[in-house]
Amino acid sequence: MKKLDVVLGLQWGDEGKGKVVDVLAGRYDGVARFQGGPNAGHSLYFEGKHFVARSIPSGIFREGSINIIGNGVVLDPIEFQEECGKVAAMGLNPQEKIVISKKANLILPTHRLLDAANEAAAGKGKIGSTLKGIGPTYTDKISRHALRVGDALAPDFKARYEKLQNRHIKELQNLGFECDPHAEDEAWFAAMEFIKGFKLVDCEYYVNDMLANDKSVIAEGAQGSMLDIDFGTYPFVTSSNTTVGGCCPGLGIAPTKVGSVYGIFKAYCTRVGSGPFPTELFDETGEEIRQLGHEFGAVTGRPRRCGWLDLVALKYAVMLDGVTDLIMMKADILNTFDTIKIAVAYKINGEIVDHFPFEVDDNVEPVYKEFKGWKKDICAVRDYNEFPQEFKDYVAFIEKETGCPISIISVGPDRDETLVR
Ligand code: IMO
Ligand code: MG
Repeated sequence: MKKLDVVLGLQWGDEGKGKVVDVLAGRYDGVARFQGGPNAGHSLYFEGKHFVARSIPSGIFREGSINIIGNGVVLDPIEFQEECGKVAAMGLNPQEKIVISKKANLILPTHRLLDAANEAAAGKGKIGSTLKGIGPTYTDKISRHALRVGDALAPDFKARYEKLQNRHIKELQNLGFECDPHAEDEAWFAAMEFIKGFKLVDCEYYVNDMLANDKSVIAEGAQGSMLDIDFGTYPFVTSSNTTVGGCCPGLGIAPTKVGSVYGIFKAYCTRVGSGPFPTELFDETGEEIRQLGHEFGAVTGRPRRCGWLDLVALKYAVMLDGVTDLIMMKADILNTFDTIKIAVAYKINGEIVDHFPFEVDDNVEPVYKEFKGWKKDICAVRDYNEFPQEFKDYVAFIEKETGCPISIISVGPDRDETLVR
């Protein structure tokens, strides 16, 4: 009996999950998404090609791996069909590579409109949502009004859609949001027909059967631990449990079946959207990281906020996720820096704190440890011993502080620019 391994982001998203899953997927028979939806943007680079995986698991381009969209995912039929079109254009048949849980919740066009209406009404308190309808869809799931993929097979599906849509229309009117709620009805139902062409499964049986038959599966997290609905910087979070536990209800897996947990982090930090970010840089160093790291949203194109690595937040995520292996991304972006900093604690009202606080406001000031930059191009390094000593010192410090080995180091966007220790 195999265990389910998990790979997830430890920061505020955009850690490079797409690349890592694509690299790891070669070792697994299945890749399963367990939460989130098309708010995710997982970039894959291989053989000169580029693909951004949104709802489709990042194992899609690995031969022999089945890609599972779990029940914890919120699926937008229109976005999904479009994404599948791109996969098809790259020569693959998505219907042969993807199975979908009947229990995954559906994003309606009006969920997206509600997302926009909520943000418009929030004024300064805006979450900076990707406007993909994620929050409103999970809201309907929890309040037990949602539609699920399997409902598409019911004879009264259309009536149920209209019932839910009417609830949304009332809400949109209450919020004074001007829109045409019916504009995408036709496209949405057409996309549902497309979805019916996939193998619709009871994901809990599907994944457990795979493991029982000695097939390996890796669960792919979306977003990051600091965007978790419970442990992130609430309310500036996404609407699902992005931490490791989310994979249990998100796929129908018992906690005792979870194996290795790969936690991905960038050698610095980014955040897109609103909310606290203690190590954010507002100076030219921040701008340099943004430019060198191409830190612009894969989904929305928004410039990402950039800052130094935050060990307080990283250690918090390592604890929450029970990380067994760390994976460090984009260290190569720091190749040219004279000095590199890591926040090792926070100073809050004069007191040194090493726990992530309940409230992160302007009183939270990072306490930095400085490292000498390695000032060498590390992109071509494939043997750990060949890294400059300054780089090895940086890695060793993070390993010591987190108590976790960094077992994979990425030195460039391509599949091949990866060092496994
Ligand atoms: P991947 O999987 C980075 C952020 C949004 C916003 C907040 C809530 O590519 O790492 P939502 O649309 O979920 O209601 O937005 O969460 N956010 C992400 N930031 N990467 C993501 O996904 C994100 N998904 C959501 O910017 O601040
Ligand atoms: Mg992203």
